[in-house]
Amino acid sequence: MTEYGASPVTVQKAMRRLIGLGLVESRPGVGTFVRGTRAVRPADYGWQTAPLGTPQSRGHALSSTQRSGAPDAIGLHSGYPARELLPERLVRTALTRVAKTEAAMMRSPAAGAPDLQAWFAAELASTAPAGVASANPRDALIISGSQSGLSSIFRAVVGAGRPLLIESPTYWGAILAAHQAGVTLVPIPAGAHGPDPVEVDRAFARTGARAFYAQPTFANPTGVSWAPSTGRAVLETVRQHGAFLIEDDWAHDLGIDADPHPVAAYDDDGHVIYLRSLTKSVSPAIRVAAVIARGPARDRILADRAAESMYVSGLLQAAALDVVTQPAWRTHLRSFRDHLRDRRDLLASSLREHTPSVHLDTVPVGGLNLWVRLPDGRSPAAIASACETRGLIVAPGAEWFPAESPGPYLRLNYSGENPSRFPEAARILEEVLSIS
Ligand SMILES: Cc1ncc(COP(=O)(O)O)c(C=O)c1O
Repeated sequence: MTEYGASPVTVQKAMRRLIGLGLVESRPGVGTFVRGTRAVRPADYGWQTAPLGTPQSRGHALSSTQRSGAPDAIGLHSGYPARELLPERLVRTALTRVAKTEAAMMRSPAAGAPDLQAWFAAELASTAPAGVASANPRDALIISGSQSGLSSIFRAVVGAGRPLLIESPTYWGAILAAHQAGVTLVPIPAGAHGPDPVEVDRAFARTGARAFYAQPTFANPTGVSWAPSTGRAVLETVRQHGAFLIEDDWAHDLGIDADPHPVAAYDDDGHVIYLRSLTKSVSPAIRVAAVIARGPARDRILADRAAESMYVSGLLQAAALDVVTQPAWRTHLRSFRDHLRDRRDLLASSLREHTPSVHLDTVPVGGLNLWVRLPDGRSPAAIASACETRGLIVAPGAEWFPAESPGPYLRLNYSGENPSRFPEAARILEEVLSIS
């Protein structure tokens, strides 16, 4: 032990870390010294202004959901479940197990590990009604998170300069991916129980669009699920127009008071391109998802994936498959559901009690967010910034609209923050609304 109580090994480790960080330098035979701070000339990147020009798309800034705030701030902006809601033991055991297998050293096929492809296809098939031919395992393409799948689908199936129908509001990442793919967005009101199929039909006819991106189940940000009749009618409309429904089933494992019923389960002629992600139910570090598509659309998406990233780490695929095929996976999904319900209800009741100025239209039956409306005339961006100075981070709603926002909204995520802080968050929001 040193005179301060630390063991020599601990001190050596600390020194190595400081040297690694460049804060301390060791001169052999002389001693160890704190590195002097030299005045460094500020870098001049001004030359980059001319070659870069103005940004081609609006995707050059981070979403407000990706920001990190002060460590003690209450974060209701981020889209990821808290660590204690995730199946940590299952994930760690899976990683240990797969580290000893071939998957640790081998390249995966471009379409993904066959067993994992089969699992995703079987999951979708398990919700299909009798008489509908299920997707083949080869139709399930493994991707590293569904965000990259959105980009591929928009590039490969829609194409630059061509129209894409999209719900409004919808996931900001889909709007971003579409902008980056150069696709022209045609907003369709998302509706309280899904879009109006007549409106979808008219928009297809008016614009000549050949695809509709939608989240029929526990949509981000509203939490809305389509009525079953809406799903059937939209599928019929899509068929009549010889078009695709791009169904983003991001919240398949995030049901609270309802189970998911993907529209894709009713499709056997390749009109639905289906996305399912495990990022939020397994682990954001094992970022595995799948696109299920059939026919030439499947081949085009695969070609785009191969050009973009060649293949997904086989180790991560094997770990994901290990987790979801353990008996404890089902137990995890049940307790996940209970935790999400408690959190959702606590945030909703905190808002009812402490934030009478905001309007919560519906308490969602699944997903991770409450979508609240502020009093008319308030600026969500200004409210969010005033909240942040008081230690509360919220996401202003404008990012979820492909065009202008028709009202002032905030998205409040109940899955990431410690729920004991929800009442305080609701009080801060009300205080900001009452003075700004
Ligand atoms: C609707 C929707 N789609 C796709 C994604 C991207 O998820 P992943 O982590 O699988 O890339 C998200 C992430 O929040 C989302 O909300």
